[in-house]
Amino acid sequence: MTTVDRTPPVAPTPTYASALEYDRDDVVGRDAHAVMERLVRLYQDSGTDQAEEQWREPVRNYSDPQRFRDELDAVHRRVPLPLAMSCELPGPGTYKAIQVADTPVLITRDAHGVIHASVNACRHRGNELLAEGVGRAKRIVCSYHAWSYDLAGCLLGVAGEKTFGPVDRDRTGLVRLPAEERAGIIFVGLTPGRPLNLDSWLGDLEPLLAGLGLASCHHFSTRELPGPNWKVTVDGYLEGYHFASLHPTTVFKTNLSNIAAFDSWGPHQRNAFALRPIAEAVTQPPEARDPTACVGAIFWLFPGLAISGGWRQHVAVSLVLPGRTVEESRTQQVILLRHPPADDDERKTADTTRDWFHDVVLDEDYATGFGVQRGLAALGGTDFVFGRNEPGVQHFHRVVKGLLAEAVTDGPQ
Ligand code: FES
Ligand SMILES: [Fe+2]
Repeated sequence: MTTVDRTPPVAPTPTYASALEYDRDDVVGRDAHAVMERLVRLYQDSGTDQAEEQWREPVRNYSDPQRFRDELDAVHRRVPLPLAMSCELPGPGTYKAIQVADTPVLITRDAHGVIHASVNACRHRGNELLAEGVGRAKRIVCSYHAWSYDLAGCLLGVAGEKTFGPVDRDRTGLVRLPAEERAGIIFVGLTPGRPLNLDSWLGDLEPLLAGLGLASCHHFSTRELPGPNWKVTVDGYLEGYHFASLHPTTVFKTNLSNIAAFDSWGPHQRNAFALRPIAEAVTQPPEARDPTACVGAIFWLFPGLAISGGWRQHVAVSLVLPGRTVEESRTQQVILLRHPPADDDERKTADTTRDWFHDVVLDEDYATGFGVQRGLAALGGTDFVFGRNEPGVQHFHRVVKGLLAEAVTDGPQ
């Protein structure tokens, strides 16, 4: 057996610097202080927010290929998917191309700054138009036979049209997908023509999301992480029960384990974990306590966007997407800063944040997720059990179950 000697990554403590610009009486300030006071009480009682009951989830729901296809239809093809941060497309003439399960998506920001989304496939014979990633483009030219499109997806030019024959521009634009940006996040629907209805989808969460100030952030880096089944991956983001056991030399250095305040807004949720400075804060009067020092809040936009550090200078956003099969997911880990690094020191600090999140999530969380994946087939007839202290995991599975039932009632798109 080989032993790997790893030096634990250095925790990015400078990111604790507060970026919250709020009035204590505005919606964000009231919320941040209220969740901190709840955490103070939980800390004093050695408690954590709990669900009413335990939850049993058949293991087959993580491994059955038909179930996976049903989830894609009922979840990913029906709900607004957060697929990009606004600052990944930082101005007119920018794009992000991203594969979501079996759909290649192209998000563009046109010359007026307006967001569009299309299927990233040429209408001539289907060539992928732009390789995955972010970049700049004035127009989109297919590399196969040089058809060209504008950033709203309209067909501009057909090479050699005199010999090709006439092409109806109105009917041969890119296949458009609904898209809209809110609070610094770009949402896309995978079903053409199906409205996003973001007002009702985000509900009362929207002002809190807007308060994170993501819309004015700077995109520092993106790293891609391969993962196991998408729900195996997601489950790891939604509880802090594992911090002491799985992350003894990393996350547990800064976060307490199994002490979290849980909130949900429709399908979305937030798990607010107690950070170690809370031990000091409980001895202080409430007005002296700082939520950015005491609370590690992870906002979770269903079905797969974790926003960590949203009240601080550095924000780590994890976009978890299903892969092409039931056994695969992919995660884009995006680091946002409040402003571009001003000098080498700021750049190094941001590098540390980026490397810390990458190493901890890949080497500890996802390494564990792949371990879960290896046992799924052999556990086929059994259930997993989610504890009362894992309300976030329960909520996520309850939402998935509800959407599957809704899709059966509504029928196919
Ligand atoms: S496939 Fe795009 S121009 Fe032919
Ligand atoms: Fe973890």
